[in-house]
Amino acid sequence: MPGEKRMHKKTVRDVDVRGKRVLVRVDFNVPLGPGGTIEDDSRIHACTPTITYLVRQQARVIICSHLGRPHGRVDERLRMEPVARRLAEILRRPVISLRETVGPVVEEAINRMHDGDVAVLENLRFSPGEEANDPVFARALARCADLVVNDAFGVSHRTHASIVGIAGFLPCVAGLLMEKEIAALSPLLENPAHPFALVLGGAKAGEKIAILENCIPLVDRVLVGGGAAAPFLAYTGSFPGGSAAFDPEILEKVRAVMEMAGTHGVQVLLPVDVVTAEKPEPGAAYRVVSPGDIPAGHVIADIGPATLAAYISAIRPCRTVAWNGPMGIFEIPAFSAGTKAIAAALAGLHATTIIGGGSTAEAVTQLGLAGEMTHVSTGGGAFLSFLSGKPLTGVTVLADLQGSAAKG
Ligand code: 3PG
Repeated sequence: MPGEKRMHKKTVRDVDVRGKRVLVRVDFNVPLGPGGTIEDDSRIHACTPTITYLVRQQARVIICSHLGRPHGRVDERLRMEPVARRLAEILRRPVISLRETVGPVVEEAINRMHDGDVAVLENLRFSPGEEANDPVFARALARCADLVVNDAFGVSHRTHASIVGIAGFLPCVAGLLMEKEIAALSPLLENPAHPFALVLGGAKAGEKIAILENCIPLVDRVLVGGGAAAPFLAYTGSFPGGSAAFDPEILEKVRAVMEMAGTHGVQVLLPVDVVTAEKPEPGAAYRVVSPGDIPAGHVIADIGPATLAAYISAIRPCRTVAWNGPMGIFEIPAFSAGTKAIAAALAGLHATTIIGGGSTAEAVTQLGLAGEMTHVSTGGGAFLSFLSGKPLTGVTVLADLQGSAAKG
């Protein structure tokens, strides 16, 4: 089956959690600013319905997450304590913050917990066993709980111990955020309302091609922006330096998806003008040119005004729009016009609008438009995997709705 198209899985509502030690895997991989400040706590807010539900059900709630990529080593800048503090503020209740992830100290602390208490374990990725999906680490983690609730959609594409390995030791069910994500995203691959437009931007063309390989048969039109447009423009012959500027493998994949689009009658819109800059930096000199006139060594920093007008016209009649990847270097104000205008166009649409991918979600949130969209996914890589039709390993291992594995 390409990806998890429907939630035939048990959720936290299907099991008895009262008095149980419930390990809740969340994705609290929040962006950290200077001095370790939390720059965006959306991912913490997104998991509070599950945590609050468990507290009200009088479970003992043990939260675990990764933060950053410490690759199996303790990194003082990536401790969970500030995240636990922010969670306590959001929940308006005390949260126990533990400085270890597994072991006797953790087990003793958990034994002292009362029903309805909340604790946060130390960063899972301080242990090499997490990313290695090591069964010894998974078993150690499982020792502190009776049941696992996976609310970490954003990391459900990773075969890690707390996501996959732990299912060998404890029943795993979906949290409320996981359920919401799957419910919102599944219709894109199952029964989208047409016309359906896919808006793809960002820098990495390879990721967008993987999405197209899976989604071309489902969509009516594709709009490509950002740096990802470059190999597509090379394919059409309107990029200076042409094919020579790109990895032949990418170009071959572009050729294949463009041919697939032709076969399925899918319209692929590419930029007719772009904002090009000397460097992807604030203050860099820039100008609007047609793609064929991009000076050597310059970058595509945004889509141009003619492209923007064409893209907005293409989006307007759509009943479904899925958007991944900003139209330019959104974080630099001079290059944010395309992304801002696409976000505003989607916000005003009477259609199903699904936003996913770290920087796209961040842009929509910063613009104050997240509430205007049907769904803003908490997934970055997980959203890409889902749209690319790859199975989400963390969803696959959840207890089936028809089975009895997780009851009790
Ligand atoms: C994310 O931010 O996309 C998730 O937290 C997964 O993080 P990772 O890419 O480091 O596994």
